Amino acid sequence: MAGIMFSGKPLDRSIQQPKYIQLASQIREAIQAGRLKPGDALPSARQLGLLFEVNRHTVMTAMQNLVAEGWLLSIVRKGYQVNTQLPIVDSVKTSQNSAVIGPVIPQFAYAVEHIDNLPPTKFRYNFAGGLPDVAHFPFDEFRRSMNRVCRDVSAASLHYQSVAGEGALRTQLKHYLRTARGLTCDDILVCNGSQEALFLIGQAFIEAGQGVAMEALGYPPARKAFQAAGAQIYDLTQDQHGLCADSLARCLSKNKVKLLYVTPLHQYPTTVTMPVSRRMEIYRLCVEHGVFIIEDDYDHEFHYSCPPLQPMAANDPAQIVIYLATFSKIMFAGARMGYVTASNAVLKHLSALKQIVNHKNEALMQLAIADWMAAGHFERHLRRMTKLYRQRCDVMDTSLQHFQKQGLDIDYLKPQGGMAYWVDLKRDVSNLPKKLFQAGINAHPEQNFCHSPRARYTHIRLGFAGQAEHDIENGLYALFDLL
Ligand SMILES: Cc1ncc(COP(=O)(O)O)c(C=O)c1O
Repeated sequence: MAGIMFSGKPLDRSIQQPKYIQLASQIREAIQAGRLKPGDALPSARQLGLLFEVNRHTVMTAMQNLVAEGWLLSIVRKGYQVNTQLPIVDSVKTSQNSAVIGPVIPQFAYAVEHIDNLPPTKFRYNFAGGLPDVAHFPFDEFRRSMNRVCRDVSAASLHYQSVAGEGALRTQLKHYLRTARGLTCDDILVCNGSQEALFLIGQAFIEAGQGVAMEALGYPPARKAFQAAGAQIYDLTQDQHGLCADSLARCLSKNKVKLLYVTPLHQYPTTVTMPVSRRMEIYRLCVEHGVFIIEDDYDHEFHYSCPPLQPMAANDPAQIVIYLATFSKIMFAGARMGYVTASNAVLKHLSALKQIVNHKNEALMQLAIADWMAAGHFERHLRRMTKLYRQRCDVMDTSLQHFQKQGLDIDYLKPQGGMAYWVDLKRDVSNLPKKLFQAGINAHPEQNFCHSPRARYTHIRLGFAGQAEHDIENGLYALFDLL
């Protein structure tokens, strides 16, 4: 008899869910579907135990939970009955209606595309543009910093304070920026990667329809962050020196632009380094039009032909540069550690917004990085990785030259730094992604970086930092085989 009230499903012993939870859900379902009505008495614990093949203790735990949730009443000397106060009729109606109406469709404020990137470990050859080689990260050294931090961390760091970042890390970063990048700043805002900073800047500066100018071939996550704020994006042309100043001048004369996003040291994705004269021209135009410059210096350390050029932010009398940097290339993207420096007014505003988004960055990671930097290991790691990536950059160059000598019609400029090459394959690469995937090769063709469709895509970005020299060589064979 009692079984009729329930769906009659035996408890599933193969799943991890405790039996009392399974039993309670069956009773709850029977009430919601109207098979058990308000005031109905439930079978005794012994009967339920027999029916569901569980012990009395399991039945009692399920019953007590249902009483606590308000589905059942426990009545002295009578046992359990369905609560008469439940809106059972409504609940039945809702469940009947919902079969007809279906789920309510959410109306989102704007569309966002979720990109399901496969992890690099799924590929045989990794030419993805900015992948660092995590196998060379000094985890033992870093673990000692983590251990020290876990031992010594103060309670204050573990609470909500210091939205701008842990003092110890900000001090290290300021020192590093001054000594390694010639950039003196009053303060720093630590963010969950530069991506959070981009999002915050979009929210801080952009009202729906306002303009952001960017390189036409650019960093898609930056574009998305500005679009999320409602920005109108203006694509600017670029050449072998990066963003063209005359294209910016034309854009600014015709449109109201609030922000310019630029990657001057190693243009993303074309890798070119913008000379000082071009930077000055761009800076002058932005001052004239009241445009703030977002300078994304994402892989500053890795410059090989000479010491890296000072950031635009190092010479910013008008205080219009918002400077972004990241640990995603120095360490790994999973560290989610980036930082911003800008005028005090801008930093204060961004910090207030960050507080709304997530209060602060993870404290232990910040403190561990500060400890690692203070011990001098960070700079040593940078020196080692710069040497390694320079070698890989040379290996890529030698390999590409080898293919050219073999008669393969490709063209490229050896980059002055960074972690990738931009190679002209001189043929349409639109159908390359599928072939690359099938061949186990992770590499990104030109269309991945274009916002506005082009008639023809001919280039590919080939990262060299994330894999060993022999994989670069063998991977290029596999890739050019596809052509
Ligand atoms: C142009 C550019 N900016 C920033 C980043 C780093 O972003 P995040 O610090 O959010 O990991 C990357 C990483 O690929 C990048 O290519």
